[in-house]
Amino acid sequence: MSQVEDCIKVISKSAKGFTPQVGLILGSGLGQFCEHIEVVASIDFEELPGFPVPGVSGHAGKLLLGKVSDTDIAILQGRAHYYERGKADTMAVAIQTLNAMGCQSLVITNAAGSLNSDATPGSLMLITDHINMTGVSPLFGAESNQRFVDMSEAYNHDLNDAMRSAAKANDINLHEGIYAWVSGPQFETPAEIRALKTLGADAVGMSTVPEVILARHQGLSLCALSVITNYAAGMSETALSHEQTISFSNQAADTVQSLLINYLKDQ
Ligand code: HPA
Repeated sequence: MSQVEDCIKVISKSAKGFTPQVGLILGSGLGQFCEHIEVVASIDFEELPGFPVPGVSGHAGKLLLGKVSDTDIAILQGRAHYYERGKADTMAVAIQTLNAMGCQSLVITNAAGSLNSDATPGSLMLITDHINMTGVSPLFGAESNQRFVDMSEAYNHDLNDAMRSAAKANDINLHEGIYAWVSGPQFETPAEIRALKTLGADAVGMSTVPEVILARHQGLSLCALSVITNYAAGMSETALSHEQTISFSNQAADTVQSLLINYLKDQ
């Protein structure tokens, strides 16, 4: 039996017949969103074979199933990153499981550094496209011609529009732009940030892109949001740190929450 089938078995023991419409991956410091879910089941990643056990503070490592704004939802509270084990496919089983459970779409959130001075720390950015700076893919080793995934419209237009409408309804200033995926775990140098800016990036971060590729490989539609936690290297006097990432992400959590609650009303 595959790991995904094993996971589905574990999940159906705690949440028989539950079919989420939307999957949500919560980035660093956004765990408090889970307080708003009418919980049907909460399952530790450790109980789900192939799910990552997150090793970064700010990432809990739980699959939460329940309801938000009348939408059945599966939340991955926590993720693993490429920089943790040097493997880009650490989220493969988790994303395949969301697909196998019946999710029709995915919302991915992350923390990111801003390359634009008007997108200040604490603000939100809708990701409209990405640049993969790592040279790696979570699909290395995947078989069949399905591995040649079309990434030309990876970030779904209709879901982006739904996120824009939700932001408008809540009076949230939602920036938009291109997310550059870097491996980390070290932050970038100012020279790297200048290079990324020349390439057209608006934000930079160490996650999300492998999940986007894996989701598109499964045929899942998606949209993605960055919480801007800092100006990128060389753009401000403040030293970069994970503590700053968590602190700004926590500060933006209320805004993200209102945005997602509104977005989920129409899904
Ligand atoms: N760079 C990379 N990843 C990040 C940053 C950054 O400035 N901020 C939050 N995640």
